[in-house]
Amino acid sequence: MSLRRFASAAIACSATACVSYDRQSALDPASADASAISHLFWFMVIVAAIVYVLVIGVFIGIIRRPRRDDEDPLSPEREESARGRIKQAVVATVAIMFVLLVYDFIVGRNMDGMTSPKMMTITLTGHQWWWQVDYEDPIPQNRVRTANELHIPVGLPVLIKLVSHDVIHSFWVPNIAGKKDLIPGHHNEIVIRADRAGVYRSQCAEFCGIEHAKMALVVVAEPADQFGAWIARQRMPAATPSDTLAARGQLVVEASSCAMCHSVGGTRAAGGLGPDLTHLASRRTIAAGTLPNTRGNLAGWIVDPQTIKPGVHMPANALSSSDLQAVVAYLGTLQ
Ligand code: CUA
Repeated sequence: MSLRRFASAAIACSATACVSYDRQSALDPASADASAISHLFWFMVIVAAIVYVLVIGVFIGIIRRPRRDDEDPLSPEREESARGRIKQAVVATVAIMFVLLVYDFIVGRNMDGMTSPKMMTITLTGHQWWWQVDYEDPIPQNRVRTANELHIPVGLPVLIKLVSHDVIHSFWVPNIAGKKDLIPGHHNEIVIRADRAGVYRSQCAEFCGIEHAKMALVVVAEPADQFGAWIARQRMPAATPSDTLAARGQLVVEASSCAMCHSVGGTRAAGGLGPDLTHLASRRTIAAGTLPNTRGNLAGWIVDPQTIKPGVHMPANALSSSDLQAVVAYLGTLQ
């Protein structure tokens, strides 16, 4: 296994499972925008390195220069020559900063240039500490609501409207685009386009409270046909479970406090406070990228979310062991 593959193998693991992502890095670009940002980064690093080497070289040259006995450090000629060198250094510094500024400005401007008349539009809402994802569509039945996992087709620009439900969050998929804030009462937008299929980890990039670090978003960029199949499945209501344990789980979800915060399309669970669970089992993670989506993790999360993500707005649920088994079996059917 090469180092690169090793680094990308998996970064979110619990005791029993891992979710594998592409390497989360702005320097491993999967889009033209991220590529332009990484070029800008390397240009700045190289310029800064050259300046550093020059400054240190001049410094070493000065301290190692042998001093002549008849030399007067305060003579008018030496003062004049020192003044001239300081002027040159100031001009060089301003010129270099100006070049970096212009390059940075050009990269920023070009990133706002992607548009297409029939762009897919997604509204991404930041909550403490999870992401609500709404696929817009003029036909109401075609709208899709999901959470913490954003699917996009490769090669097509996608308009993402950024809104916040509570405090300032920031949307950042390092492999695909730059950062953009989600600000309460203010509408921001970003157009992203992934040019390489992959599973990318996005992280809230603005401190938004105690669980800011556990506010990740999985971004799945997939070929158009796979994306089409995914969204067609997401448009379906939850299937009625055929298994008796899962069927009992559905009754528990509808009758317990779960339904006060969560929705499951096609059932009586219609809460709007927490993530929509209609296709929970199709997602890779739970709790906004905190844990891989396995039955064990799900059971632990339902019973005691505060230990896994202290401060999260989901309370502990004192379900009996049989009810918990039934609920986990039901959630497992929500493909
Ligand atoms: Cu949301 Cu940090």
